[in-house]
Amino acid sequence: MRDDTNYTLITGGSMGIGKALARECALRKMNLLLVALPGSELEETANEIHEEFSVKVDTLGIDLTEPASPGRVLKWCQSNNYTVDILMNNAGIAGSAIFEESSIEYSDQRILLNIRALVIMCRLFIPMLKDNPKAFILNTGSMSAYQPLAYKSVYAASKSFVRLFSLALNEELRDTSISVTVVNPNGVRTNAGSYGRINTHGKLVQKILILDAEEIARISVDAMLKGKKSIVPGFWNRCMLQITKLLPANYKIKKAAKIIRKELLK
Ligand SMILES: NC(=O)c1ccc[n+]([C@@H]2O[C@H](COP(=O)([O-])OP(=O)(O)OC[C@H]3O[C@@H](n4cnc5c(N)ncnc54)[C@H](OP(=O)(O)O)[C@@H]3O)[C@@H](O)[C@H]2O)c1
Repeated sequence: MRDDTNYTLITGGSMGIGKALARECALRKMNLLLVALPGSELEETANEIHEEFSVKVDTLGIDLTEPASPGRVLKWCQSNNYTVDILMNNAGIAGSAIFEESSIEYSDQRILLNIRALVIMCRLFIPMLKDNPKAFILNTGSMSAYQPLAYKSVYAASKSFVRLFSLALNEELRDTSISVTVVNPNGVRTNAGSYGRINTHGKLVQKILILDAEEIARISVDAMLKGKKSIVPGFWNRCMLQITKLLPANYKIKKAAKIIRKELLK
């Protein structure tokens, strides 16, 4: 049984999948700490969830690509006596680009947020998580973690990192109270960018492979609480993954590049 003084900390909790995770956790009566870029979205989400579910919600507006930010998040929790027993590293940036034409900042942002912030948050919060009889880390990966993706080269590689890191960390923490889950969703309509990218794919793909953020959140929280190591939400997404495992690597890379190229033309 969780203590009422415990909190679930969600990075990128102001909108998209992070907001859906926050609502799902609130529905299960978890108190929340929402961390995202400073802005009205964050406050609005916190107020909406507090009013609807009567759980405690606090927010920290911070840019997690700044090297000192993960440490500041931990200090904020410690100085407010917030005990975190669930850490959800969800903040991440996607996008498609021709690598040689993209800016240094484009790659840097994805590496700093999708990889560095997630790793350092795990490292810093493990001691606090371990103090609880049961604790969880939920890392948001992506289905793009499973193969090299041209025109999403940095993003897909960052999500491969998240997946492999999470699986390895789960094994290292096997004899502790902490269980680590990585969720690997296919496309989810969350923001203008993801709407645009998803709409370049065929109607059938959109109908059967694209889940909404609420469904992703429900499946993810269930899997996390069951101690699952890695999940791909959606029956058809899992089927697609199994089928693509049977295809030759070169064919898959070329086929995926052709599909993603369309996103660049949108
Ligand atoms: N949408 C998809 O199709 C899809 C598919 C697979 C995996 N994912 C993964 O799911 C996660 C969430 O994606 P989403 O589509 O829900 O994204 P989103 O709607 O763009 O929301 C991103 C969240 O991260 C926060 N954020 C962005 N940059 C940040 C920074 N530098 N520091 C702190 N917070 C920052 C945003 O804060 P603000 O509100 O302040 O901007 C927002 O709360 C990501 O890791 C993404 O890679 C998404």
